[in-house]
Amino acid sequence: MEFIVYEQKGAYGIITISREKALNALNSSVLDELSATLDAVNLDEVRCLILTGAGQKSFVAGADIGEMSTLTKAEGEAFGKKGNDVFRKLETFPIPVIAAINGFALGGGCEISMSCDIRICSDNAVFGQPEVGLGITPGFGGTQRLARLVGAGMAKQMIYTARNIKADEALRIGLVNAVYTQEELMGAAEKMAAGIAKNAPIAVRNCKKAINEGLDVDMDAAIVIEEKLFGDCFETEDQRYGMAFFLDKNKEKVKEPFKNC
Ligand code: CAA
Repeated sequence: MEFIVYEQKGAYGIITISREKALNALNSSVLDELSATLDAVNLDEVRCLILTGAGQKSFVAGADIGEMSTLTKAEGEAFGKKGNDVFRKLETFPIPVIAAINGFALGGGCEISMSCDIRICSDNAVFGQPEVGLGITPGFGGTQRLARLVGAGMAKQMIYTARNIKADEALRIGLVNAVYTQEELMGAAEKMAAGIAKNAPIAVRNCKKAINEGLDVDMDAAIVIEEKLFGDCFETEDQRYGMAFFLDKNKEKVKEPFKNC
């Protein structure tokens, strides 16, 4: 791998997009490597992922403008599909993904963060969809996911004006869940990942599926999705162990109840 660093730390993994000279901009190679990295995650051991960018300045400064500058219509569409396929893989990845946004999250950078389950950022983070200033539309899911996250009105304002926003505004509009100093960000992300990894793994996966798939359909269909995934938890080690542990008055001293599930 030239542009992706992957480290497994016990029950969680950290994916770092590492193309610092170009502020971690996404060219085709970065996208291919990210896809291959996700395919190689050991899902028997890893229960949560963190996605971040290398360096202190940028999470991801967007899709690679140099690579896009000479594309034909057909090539542009194919490049959009390449990004969308990888981002969708991330969004539907069986385990939760936390974006630890450590600087610029522009264009494809904002878009990749929105494919993650949870976004937290450093106080120097900057978000935006600058594409209309470059003569294109957001092409890696920005026209779809931003409106779903912050509402159509705010998404349209950000996309039509191409104005960047800082971390405090991203927090205010609900684009990120929390803001930390640059020094604290990864510690906070790792603490959250470890906390998620301690919970019942089948239940956590089913929650992700239920929330994601439920949001795509109407409420009548959504609650059926929930019922199936709720039922799917029963008779599993997760459910047997979790409930037996709660009901056990003597409370065996088990620090990590789902470690072996
Ligand atoms: N693509 C390619 N290279 C990029 C890049 C990008 N998106 N963003 C930054 N770089 C490169 C710069 O060209 C520069 O390279 P050189 O040193 O070889 O000149 C290097 O990274 C450092 O960048 P700057 O010198 O510009 O750094 P700065 O601190 O002055 O500015 C910045 C930082 C404000 C993020 C600025 O780099 C910038 O505006 N970048 C582009 C952001 C952008 O428009 N992103 C959206 C891309 S389009 C998109 O993503 C489409 C889509 O939806 C799929």
